[in-house]
Amino acid sequence: MKFSISLVNAALGAVFFKTVSAATCNLKPSYATPLTADGWQAQLVATSLSKPRGIVFDTSGNLLVVQAGSGIVHLAFDDGGSTCLDVSKKTSLINAPTLNHGIALSNDGKILYASSSEAVFSWSYDASAVTVSYTNQTLVTGMTNDDHTTRTLLMSQKEPSILVVSRGSTSNIDTEAEFLSSGHSQIKAFDLNNVSSSAPYDFNTQGRLLGWGLRNSVGVAEEPTIGGIYSVENSADEIDRAGVDIHQNNPGEEMNYHGFLNASTENQGGNYGYPLCFAVWNTNIPDLGTLKVGDQFALDQNATSNDTTCQTKRVSPRLTFQAHMAPLDMKFLPNGTEAYISFHGSWDRTNPIGYKVSSLLFSSGSPTAPSDSTNSTTDIFANADNSACPDNCFRPVGLAVDGEERLWVSSDATGELYVLARTSTGTATSSGATPSATKKSSAGRVGASGALVAVLLGAVLVVVML
Ligand SMILES: *[C@@H]1O[C@H](CO)[C@@H](O)[C@H](O)[C@H]1NC(C)=O
Ligand SMILES: *[C@@H]1O[C@H](CO)[C@@H](O)[C@H](O)[C@H]1NC(C)=O
Ligand SMILES: *[C@@H]1O[C@H](CO)[C@@H](O)[C@H](O)[C@H]1NC(C)=O
Ligand SMILES: *[C@@H]1O[C@H](CO)[C@@H](O)[C@H](O)[C@H]1NC(C)=O
Ligand SMILES: *[C@@H]1O[C@H](CO)[C@@H](O)[C@H](O)[C@H]1NC(C)=O
Ligand SMILES: *[C@@H]1O[C@H](CO)[C@@H](O)[C@H](O)[C@H]1NC(C)=O
Ligand SMILES: *[C@@H]1O[C@H](CO)[C@@H](O)[C@H](O)[C@H]1NC(C)=O
Repeated sequence: MKFSISLVNAALGAVFFKTVSAATCNLKPSYATPLTADGWQAQLVATSLSKPRGIVFDTSGNLLVVQAGSGIVHLAFDDGGSTCLDVSKKTSLINAPTLNHGIALSNDGKILYASSSEAVFSWSYDASAVTVSYTNQTLVTGMTNDDHTTRTLLMSQKEPSILVVSRGSTSNIDTEAEFLSSGHSQIKAFDLNNVSSSAPYDFNTQGRLLGWGLRNSVGVAEEPTIGGIYSVENSADEIDRAGVDIHQNNPGEEMNYHGFLNASTENQGGNYGYPLCFAVWNTNIPDLGTLKVGDQFALDQNATSNDTTCQTKRVSPRLTFQAHMAPLDMKFLPNGTEAYISFHGSWDRTNPIGYKVSSLLFSSGSPTAPSDSTNSTTDIFANADNSACPDNCFRPVGLAVDGEERLWVSSDATGELYVLARTSTGTATSSGATPSATKKSSAGRVGASGALVAVLLGAVLVVVML
């Protein structure tokens, strides 16, 4: 009896908590309210951050945010349920102007990893005390280059000591990336069980090569059921072929596959094409022959490098997306049925494109769409009017899925964080199109319905227990 009473109290406590939660969740963007697809709602939950990039949840459910050019902050929230949250406390955790994007936690949550253009560092981290070690350890070095300076970090859940690091190119068309020894445009994996503080790994000469010829693969993810590694690549700007400017809709942004982090090296370590081969998005390209969406083509064809060599000697993408959308992160649902991709948005295109978060269906560890699909993604969160971008738009960067499967999105340009949650009714149905304009983000109603559900649950429990 005591047991059931305490359960009832817990249920009533939950109701009490929801009802009096300090969360007001009334932040509004300074630009047009973003749109959500059917089945989703969104709320702006943090403002005044400085270029928030990578985000990750700690073991206490608080959020760590890399602010490019300043360091890492810890954010705690008042959680009114669903998308109704407010920042309750902001703590500066690491002051380090060189940190610019990459962040990860060890699987036990006790080691924090972050990256500068040059190196990967670690600190011991106490999620309860909200403290890091005074000193850091350098784990990987030798990555400095111009232009593409983020170094995305992924801590494997399947192989807990393996850290994946992605490094981009030093220019739009970086000819040094043709040489493996340059270390440019590569994704590598490092076994952290085997690194000593006196001798960090050298990116160029050490580590396990997951792929090269990857111009700037900023989003890197591990599929949670089977464990395949996927990356999303920002492909080239301003290209032409046979003297014809084809840059508006080519080359496609890519999603590539890099095999597993276990002992298997199948589908791993290949050359994915850059800087010689690029993926077709729009087939209106001179002399393309029978190539279709997702096939790789050469910018200039000659006797040693041409469309044929791009087909036979380079690894083609698993999927291709509209040119210039700039995919920056990829995060899976825990059950592996869906991945979310943030598209930072274009600059190299007459009509701005991207500036949105989309979802991609997976099944048994692989995307369900065929490799030549032009509609593999479904938009779930987008700016109301891309013609206002980049100046009056959110620009999504980092993604994180929390314990309630809410999707968190950072926007560096606006210094904001949004939270997205599924609504109880409806399913996402738009296919590659801008989400319905009638489904604007809503806030107040959400918190109220969350509390109502809690009240009803409490009442049901009371009835059952008594
Ligand atoms: C790591 O520690 C070194 C040595 O104290 C320091 O110079 C460097 O700035 C630190 N790195 C970061 C990212 O804080
Ligand atoms: C561990 O590091 C040593 C010395 O750097 C190297 O010889 C060895 O191959 C590494 N082992 C693994 C599993 O990475
Ligand atoms: C690696 O993992 C994959 C996926 O679970 C599995 O199919 C494969 O057999 C594993 N290979 C090795 C060598 O462990
Ligand atoms: C063929 O084109 C590639 C890529 O542009 C270039 O590196 C190579 O030098 C060219 N080869 C010849 C024989 O012109
Ligand atoms: C493409 O390159 C391959 C390999 O060097 C060569 O055998 C072939 O003749 C080239 N094709 C064309 C059309 O130049
Ligand atoms: C996977 O998780 C999503 C989100 O919680 C859920 O909607 C979906 O039904 C789940 N699918 C399967 C097959 O478990
Ligand atoms: C893409 O289009 C194909 C063919 O019309 C359709 O079968 C498929 O469901 C669409 N995919 C998405 C994700 O909407």
